[in-house]
Amino acid sequence: MAMLQILPTRGNQCNKFPLLFLITLLLYTCQAATEQVELQPGAVTSKYTTSCNQYKYFKIKVSNPCVNVRILVYALGGEPNLYVSKDPDQYPTVQSLAWSSYNWGTENITILASDPNFSTGMLYIGVHAYCGQDVATLFTPATYQVSVQFNTPSTSEYLPLNQLYSSILQANKYMYYKFCIPDDCTNVNVKLQNCINATTCPNTYAWPEMLISNLVRTPTLQDRTWKLAEVSRRNIALNHQQPNVRAGHYYVGIYGWCTPNKFCSDKSTCGPCDNYNNGIQFNLQVLTTKIPQNQCKPNNIPSCTNHASTLTLPLLLGLFLASCLVSLLV
Ligand SMILES: *[C@@H]1O[C@H](CO)[C@@H](O)[C@H](O)[C@H]1NC(C)=O
Ligand SMILES: *[C@@H]1O[C@H](CO)[C@@H](O)[C@H](O)[C@H]1NC(C)=O
Ligand SMILES: *[C@@H]1O[C@H](CO)[C@@H](O)[C@H](O)[C@H]1NC(C)=O
Repeated sequence: MAMLQILPTRGNQCNKFPLLFLITLLLYTCQAATEQVELQPGAVTSKYTTSCNQYKYFKIKVSNPCVNVRILVYALGGEPNLYVSKDPDQYPTVQSLAWSSYNWGTENITILASDPNFSTGMLYIGVHAYCGQDVATLFTPATYQVSVQFNTPSTSEYLPLNQLYSSILQANKYMYYKFCIPDDCTNVNVKLQNCINATTCPNTYAWPEMLISNLVRTPTLQDRTWKLAEVSRRNIALNHQQPNVRAGHYYVGIYGWCTPNKFCSDKSTCGPCDNYNNGIQFNLQVLTTKIPQNQCKPNNIPSCTNHASTLTLPLLLGLFLASCLVSLLV
């Protein structure tokens, strides 16, 4: 579906909805023959039979980035295997970059919402009818039913939102946590609290670092992250309008920054590693504020600057029809 990529993506979508609509309509007509069957969460399909070495395609829309997706292919005959992809690969095969499951018989996979490659949008499911001398079912076509479930991950794996979480710091080590923001219209403020004042807590003060990423699962000081990087500020604010702030998973690293004792002559100014022997407690809080829909300005909606020349659209349409024809012929 490379043709999708030629649609304008940013900045020039204003006043072109009728055309986009027309293109979409043509796209559907063009693809009708190979269209994937859209699945509904929780429902089990009727029986499908797929001939040896052929693929049958399904798709499922995922709109919540915080739920795991379990895909089941119940084998009733033959040897169905499962390949799952996302845009732009709408027809995954055994050669695709894909999530997959190719056990004997029934396939049962869970795509974790916390997988950095997981994202909202369509998931495309290819069921391949495997045949050969190497399987007990030999050259029997695959007969199967498909179902998809959305499952909320166990809360114990996550930092609770809008609650206090406490633990004990570890010297020069990282501790990792994650949380998930279900929609784009949310501001997040992550607070790290512990005694940072050498006067008040001469033997238990510490200046731990906090790192936040929505790409790297185990962020370190060297990674591209949101961070404190100073002692005075003890929170990281993620505003929904900031670029890169979006719904989905965030990974929090708490690093027990400290100075080795041999470099620490004045213990009230150096943040000594020694202090960690006393078990320094810290509190983490992920505070969320929902932004009302009418005040929500997600970063991914382009502003209406109308730069596109009127020529580009007929050109796009021409290109589209050409690629449509090619895809039908191939
Ligand atoms: C699929 O796998 C999950 C997790 O291992 C298990 O709980 C569930 O019963 C399995 N379902 C089927 C139909 O095999
Ligand atoms: C999968 O995730 C990695 C790490 O975030 C990223 O570099 C890569 O581009 C992703 N691949 C796809 C197909 O999204
Ligand atoms: C530390 O605490 C003392 C005593 O409460 C206070 O006078 C001082 O201003 C504090 N220092 C900082 C950096 O907050």
